[in-house]
Amino acid sequence: MDPIEFIQESARSITNTMHKLKLKYNPFSEKPIRGNTKFFVGRVSELREIGEILGSAMHGSVANAAIVGTKGIGKSSMLNIIYYATKKQGHWVVELTASQITPRQFLIQLLYNILTENLFTINGTIKSDYLEYSSKIIDMYKKLNNYGDKVPIHYPRERIERDLEFLINEVKDRNKLCIILIDEADQFAKKSCLSLLQFFHSFLYEEGILTFLAGSPTLMEDLTKISPPIKDRIPKIINMPPLSTEESYDLIRRRLEDAHIEGAEEFEPFTREAIDKIVELCDGIPRKIIMTCSESISIAIKKNLNKIDEKIVSEAIHSLGISIGHQILNHLTPAQSEIVKAMAKLGGSTTVTQLSEYLKKSPGTIGTHLSDIYEMGYIYKERKGNNVYYRLSRELIDVLLGDKNELEM
Ligand SMILES: Nc1ncnc2c1ncn2[C@@H]1O[C@H](COP(=O)(O)OP(=O)(O)OP(=O)(O)O)[C@@H](O)[C@H]1O
Ligand SMILES: [Mg+2]
Repeated sequence: MDPIEFIQESARSITNTMHKLKLKYNPFSEKPIRGNTKFFVGRVSELREIGEILGSAMHGSVANAAIVGTKGIGKSSMLNIIYYATKKQGHWVVELTASQITPRQFLIQLLYNILTENLFTINGTIKSDYLEYSSKIIDMYKKLNNYGDKVPIHYPRERIERDLEFLINEVKDRNKLCIILIDEADQFAKKSCLSLLQFFHSFLYEEGILTFLAGSPTLMEDLTKISPPIKDRIPKIINMPPLSTEESYDLIRRRLEDAHIEGAEEFEPFTREAIDKIVELCDGIPRKIIMTCSESISIAIKKNLNKIDEKIVSEAIHSLGISIGHQILNHLTPAQSEIVKAMAKLGGSTTVTQLSEYLKKSPGTIGTHLSDIYEMGYIYKERKGNNVYYRLSRELIDVLLGDKNELEM
């Protein structure tokens, strides 16, 4: 057989299958929302609260906020909506991800993004509003632009802090806010970030700066453990609950509608029972819903089906591994999940000492986390001779030590 023909034939057959499913494309690929609000559902009270925070900040009463919720609940999407909403109002706004960067890199990125996202036009020239400061701005920009992970730049930290303050206090229009959006802020709840948090204590209190952090449900507790005063600086907590049943249906309906070929019915190619099952099993977590729908469609394409029933949904859920073990993992805080993963790496049953050596954390810290996880029933305790061993529950062993396990992801 001709390999070229073969590829073409296979591609054509996918087109045919998609047609049978009444879809132009798989509408559940996880593309970031990025300013596209077509598929955004619910969150009315959270959006209202954000609007109120913004309005108050514009009138001089700044209350920074933490947007918290479990994995895949929609925190990053919310930050993204704030980004576009505030940009449209002419405020300065920067979006940063805290994970995987050091405090120094963070400050550098903060300064760099404030400059590039707000003071320059798309063509790379300084916006006319800021021309009077151009030499200083260009000087900062040049220094930062040479910055790479490997090449350290000569930009002492105090200098960065002073330049940030200069931008906010001198260059920025008094009537505008500088909105700082920090995603995955759990990263800052580490001892090594203490100095950064301390810098934020004063910085977050400058007039005209409004900060939104996004992170896990325990974000504020974790930050407060490292630096107690941070709590006063971030007085608002916006808790993201799961989507309601109605909103879950709505999410699926809107995405399907967009991808339907003419004449398709509301939830086609899914049967009503299949949709009910997805909504029921995904607990209102948008990412879970999207992934389950997407996987179901992929399976239907592979099997050349024209409809997706409950059986296909079960298969999708199974192949995605949205098992009890995964649900437990999603439920754990980052610190707790680090511990259960370390337990898996050490064979599934360990002592506090072994874990504390492996993770290079104090036995006290490890012990506290272990007892929290134990209280929730996800690990067992056993005495062997003089030692107490903690052992992973069946569900966690399945997900962490199974064939396709989380540790490699
Ligand atoms: N209100 C919403 N309406 C429709 N889709 C949403 C909504 N919120 C989130 N989503 C979708 O759900 C998925 C997960 O959202 P997002 O990445 O914002 O979650 P997250 O809370 O930031 O997750 P993580 O904990 O992994 O950072 C994305 O595909 C996003 O488009
Ligand atoms: Mg996110």
